[in-house]
Amino acid sequence: MRKDLIAGNWKMHTTHLEALQMVQKLSYRLDPGDYERVDVLVCPPFTGLRSVQTVIETDHLQIQLGAQHCHFEEKGAFTGEVSPQMLSKMSVSYVIAGHSERRQIFGESDEMVNRKVKAILADGMTPILCCGETEAEREAEQTEERVGSQVRLGLKDLTAEQVASMVIAYEPIWAIGTGKTASADDAGDMCTFVRNTVAEQFGEAADSVRILYGGSVKPGNIAGLMAKRDIDGALVGGASLDPDSFASLVRYWI
Ligand code: PGA
Repeated sequence: MRKDLIAGNWKMHTTHLEALQMVQKLSYRLDPGDYERVDVLVCPPFTGLRSVQTVIETDHLQIQLGAQHCHFEEKGAFTGEVSPQMLSKMSVSYVIAGHSERRQIFGESDEMVNRKVKAILADGMTPILCCGETEAEREAEQTEERVGSQVRLGLKDLTAEQVASMVIAYEPIWAIGTGKTASADDAGDMCTFVRNTVAEQFGEAADSVRILYGGSVKPGNIAGLMAKRDIDGALVGGASLDPDSFASLVRYWI
């Protein structure tokens, strides 16, 4: 029932010209049949969004456009910020909320992440709510407590219908950009835990919400991850910057 989603988070990489080339190269490597099976998403930096949107529209690409961040207010004196409406008007359909880098480096709290999720939904886009534990939390056996609370607080006061339309990405912080991946079994178990946490509060919405794994996903490990019942896709950093490897992640069954 749930369509797979392979999402590339380009982080603070690519100028707008490089972003343009990247999405074109990716499109050459994919076939129409790939998009029937998988939703393919790229999240360039803000400065690349307009160029990538233009190439998607002009060349009628089926690649979808996402943003890595936004503010939760519609407008105002928030120097340097971008509002959800600015993104939705640019055909952005997904926005990442609460990535661990935003939480750790820019001090985003669960409350801010929750406000952001609501604002993204209000503008008709799909939030990708990120959660994940640090290495210290994992060693102290606090993984479920940490991830459970990020999910509960991130989804606070949403309706079941809203939650059903969303994406949640489980990304253990110790696996991000480190080359250390959670084993497929561990990642699968945690994604099941996330789904159960959603079910406790939102019932059947848990069957529809898509849950991604993220953290050093590479062509060599994706098939094992995707074989897990509760993993519906991947949020990919490093490997999404190479069109060859990102295309092989999209076509993970080959
Ligand atoms: P990585 O990043 O694939 O480079 O580990 C994943 C992420 O931060 O979403």
